[in-house]
Amino acid sequence: MHLVSLSLAFLLSLVRILVHATSGAAILPSDTDVKFQIETGGNNNYFLRDALTTAQVLVSSSSSNASVRRVVVALPAGNTGALTYFLPLNLSDKLNVTLDNSTLRSTTEDFDNVGVQANLAFSQNATMGVTIVGAVRAMRDYVEGSGTMHEIFNYTVAHANSTSLRLHRQWINGTANGTFKGADLYLNILSDAQLNITLGNNGTFTPPTVNVIVQEGETGVIQMRVLTNESTIQGIDSGELFLPAGSPNQSDGLDTALKGLSNGTDVHAEQVSFLTFKDKFTAGGWRFLTYFGRDSMIALRFLMPLLTPNATETALGAVIERANSSGALCHEETIGDYASFVNIQNNQSELGNQPFYDYKMIDTDLYLIPTLAHYFLDLPQGRGRASAFLRRNASLQDGTYLELLNRTVQYNLALALPFRSTPNVTNLLSFRPGQPVGNWRDSNEGTGYGPIPFDVNVALVPANLRATARLARSGIIDNGAMVLRNTTTTLADLADAAASVWEEKAASFFEISINGSVAEERLQNYVAAANLSEALLSGTTATAGIEAGNTVNKIFYALSLMEDGSPVEVLNSDLGFALLYGSNVTQEYLQRVVEALQPFPRGLLTNIGMVVANPAYDSNTTNTEVLNRAAYHGTVVWSWQQGLMAAGIARQLGFCHSNASAIVDPNPAPLPKPSWCGNVTFVDSLVAAQTRLWTSIRGANDSIFTEVWTYSFNNSTNLFSPADLAIISPQGTESDAIQLWSYGFLGLLDPNGDTIR
Ligand SMILES: *[C@@H]1O[C@H](CO)[C@@H](O)[C@H](O)[C@H]1NC(C)=O
Ligand SMILES: *[C@@H]1O[C@H](CO)[C@@H](O)[C@H](O)[C@H]1NC(C)=O
Ligand SMILES: *[C@@H]1O[C@H](CO)[C@@H](O)[C@H](O)[C@H]1NC(C)=O
Ligand SMILES: *[C@@H]1O[C@H](CO)[C@@H](O)[C@H](O)[C@H]1NC(C)=O
Ligand SMILES: *[C@@H]1O[C@H](CO)[C@@H](O)[C@H](O)[C@H]1NC(C)=O
Ligand SMILES: *[C@@H]1O[C@H](CO)[C@@H](O)[C@H](O)[C@H]1NC(C)=O
Ligand SMILES: *[C@@H]1O[C@H](CO)[C@@H](O)[C@H](O)[C@H]1NC(C)=O
Ligand SMILES: *[C@@H]1O[C@H](CO)[C@@H](O)[C@H](O)[C@H]1NC(C)=O
Ligand SMILES: *[C@@H]1O[C@H](CO)[C@@H](O)[C@H](O)[C@H]1NC(C)=O
Ligand SMILES: *[C@@H]1O[C@H](CO)[C@@H](O)[C@H](O)[C@H]1NC(C)=O
Ligand SMILES: *[C@@H]1O[C@H](CO)[C@@H](O)[C@H](O)[C@H]1NC(C)=O
Ligand SMILES: *[C@@H]1O[C@H](CO)[C@@H](O)[C@H](O)[C@H]1NC(C)=O
Repeated sequence: MHLVSLSLAFLLSLVRILVHATSGAAILPSDTDVKFQIETGGNNNYFLRDALTTAQVLVSSSSSNASVRRVVVALPAGNTGALTYFLPLNLSDKLNVTLDNSTLRSTTEDFDNVGVQANLAFSQNATMGVTIVGAVRAMRDYVEGSGTMHEIFNYTVAHANSTSLRLHRQWINGTANGTFKGADLYLNILSDAQLNITLGNNGTFTPPTVNVIVQEGETGVIQMRVLTNESTIQGIDSGELFLPAGSPNQSDGLDTALKGLSNGTDVHAEQVSFLTFKDKFTAGGWRFLTYFGRDSMIALRFLMPLLTPNATETALGAVIERANSSGALCHEETIGDYASFVNIQNNQSELGNQPFYDYKMIDTDLYLIPTLAHYFLDLPQGRGRASAFLRRNASLQDGTYLELLNRTVQYNLALALPFRSTPNVTNLLSFRPGQPVGNWRDSNEGTGYGPIPFDVNVALVPANLRATARLARSGIIDNGAMVLRNTTTTLADLADAAASVWEEKAASFFEISINGSVAEERLQNYVAAANLSEALLSGTTATAGIEAGNTVNKIFYALSLMEDGSPVEVLNSDLGFALLYGSNVTQEYLQRVVEALQPFPRGLLTNIGMVVANPAYDSNTTNTEVLNRAAYHGTVVWSWQQGLMAAGIARQLGFCHSNASAIVDPNPAPLPKPSWCGNVTFVDSLVAAQTRLWTSIRGANDSIFTEVWTYSFNNSTNLFSPADLAIISPQGTESDAIQLWSYGFLGLLDPNGDTIR
């Protein structure tokens, strides 16, 4: 096996050299090997993809102070991996465990096992702590679930002596029909160390004691291997993913954004490539190297202008393939051993390890149609491709893409029509019964416990209806007659009429108006409660809706509504959704955006990015803690939310005057132009808000492609600096080093026309 892959690599390199030698400008064969590393959040992350495998390996960085060293391996194949901790055997020692990146490579074993290996150097005697081999979801349960473990996922010690250890995880449904499916973690001593292993005394229940004994004065080297016989999925290379730069008819902005991506000279192209596969896009690594519908579609919305039709259609197809029989779209696909576990819990153990598709999100259903409409109707590379795409037969279920899409169209329409007839709170969309979550703020406290979210009702429902109307009018979907209350109308007319009601009425349910001096008092209480400084409230707040002593009311939109319609009074970044997805956004709404884009805590902007929630104005002061800087969706920065706001403002300003050098994503302007375009003072204030936003974004340039970060605050300088969420989060929620939708920034230029890279 080794010989074969070596000679293949050798041949490939020969081909490359030959091409170089014969013609400098020739197209190089695409480089299938992806290898890069990123240090962030106290971890070194190593990424590898070649013809055999895709893998991420994470090792606590030597610069981190923690005494415990963590090693994580994640393979998208079966969403499989291993998690293990090493502690110094003598607790007073400082232990270093470092990975030698030149030894990182794919590896194979009998029974179609494929995975990754690398050498780890141990500076000290160590002992192995908690270890989980198998499902990444089981690893996440432990890391993010305050140490939750399930006995059903126990490994067995398949081999142990003084130089090697093999921990084997046999899948719950791993032996059916003559197959032996599972995963393995191997540790093999290479030099200057030995293993001292004492087996547990209670079968598989008690883990063995595994000590690594390093020779005095030496560094012990251990080869680690993690393999599974889940099938490897093929990745999409940079060259297949991104359009080439420099093609005719590209706008200057698009050309700037594309530079270095398709030829792979820009490392970010490899990073996106690492997350994308020939049958689906994955959301982020290490925690989410599997299918997520929302992440795929939001990332597409940003990246589509840069992508080849093949890549875009792969991701769109993956969404359609996973629709359920009523037309709802899949949030997360659970595969591998964890699927068996979920099926057993749902009293469906007869399904074995068939994937479990989760439909609990109410926003996911609403992203597909706007994304399709933008691709097929607005982007040059999507034009003319709809009918061939929609004629495809799904492979995960029966039906053509068109038939499956039609179900989603009907499903979303049915949910939107009651509010069209009777626009009241009851007819707004609410999280599904019994679900504490349902939109991107996917944590129990994410929407401040309100089940009626702002983003879905104010932005996504009307956007879905407008996009439905556009697709129907263009003939991409059937614009058939619909009979409603004895009136016959077309699908397009009905969807547009419903959209108008949602656009006009939904936001008013979320509107909060607080007396200016009351708002000021709440801000002062908040800075004290959150250990911030009052100095943050003074200074350049001239554009603020309120100033000290001013009685102008503070007006903003709630994060969500409680079941009874009362608002959760948390200022938030979900304003961005209507800017990027919506139609007929009003000047009043944009004014709220201008006001939200002020320094935190009056607004959302810190010197290290835009926070997604700000409970400073909330009369319910318990939300100060519920959505604090340790909460996954609290006063923390999600990179893609900044991208959404930036892309949304660019789209709205583009409706007034198009600045071709700064536009990557073409958005047809409405006719006539929005009336606020004529109000120069107002347009200037929106441009100023855009500038403030980008200054804030630039303040954490180094973190821009990660998932999420929080802040630490310096009371003497009054400045924020980025901080690692994992360290302060009570659940241990950590940030992925690479997150697909954060790479949306590749499709954005700042107001000067520069890339973020
Ligand atoms: C491997 O590590 C060396 C030394 O730290 C570094 O210079 C090199 O860039 C790394 N290789 C990759 C592929 O990141
Ligand atoms: C751990 O590694 C870091 C960085 O390589 C080094 O500076 C430090 O001296 C090492 N500590 C020990 C105890 O080996
Ligand atoms: C088996 O599961 C139990 C309960 O989760 C846990 O305490 C134990 O450490 C596990 N043993 C192994 C070998 O994974
Ligand atoms: C430990 O087991 C491995 C794998 O079976 C074998 O290659 C090695 O020689 C053994 N080491 C010792 C010291 O017996
Ligand atoms: C085993 O084979 C039977 C008959 O082909 C099939 O119905 C069943 O789904 C298979 N089970 C698994 C776990 O693959
Ligand atoms: C190996 O482990 C056993 C039991 O845990 C212990 O008694 C013994 O001292 C250890 N040997 C070394 C060399 O650390
Ligand atoms: C031994 O393992 C069983 C489960 O396999 C568990 O219920 C029991 O508590 C364990 N006993 C001890 C002494 O750990
Ligand atoms: C590890 O422990 C062994 C046995 O106790 C000892 O001889 C050795 O010096 C220790 N290694 C280091 C690096 O401290
Ligand atoms: C890759 O493309 C960029 C511009 O998009 C160009 O500057 C660079 O020279 C290209 N590199 C190669 C190896 O073709
Ligand atoms: C599109 O993707 C398919 C499947 O991955 C592949 O076979 C085909 O060659 C690709 N076409 C282009 C133009 O890249
Ligand atoms: C999967 O494993 C569970 C637990 O052992 C068992 O109850 C179930 O029958 C298995 N399902 C299949 C399809 O083999
Ligand atoms: C779309 O769905 C509607 C309502 O279920 C149905 O009447 C119509 O025939 C479907 N059209 C297609 C093309 O599947």
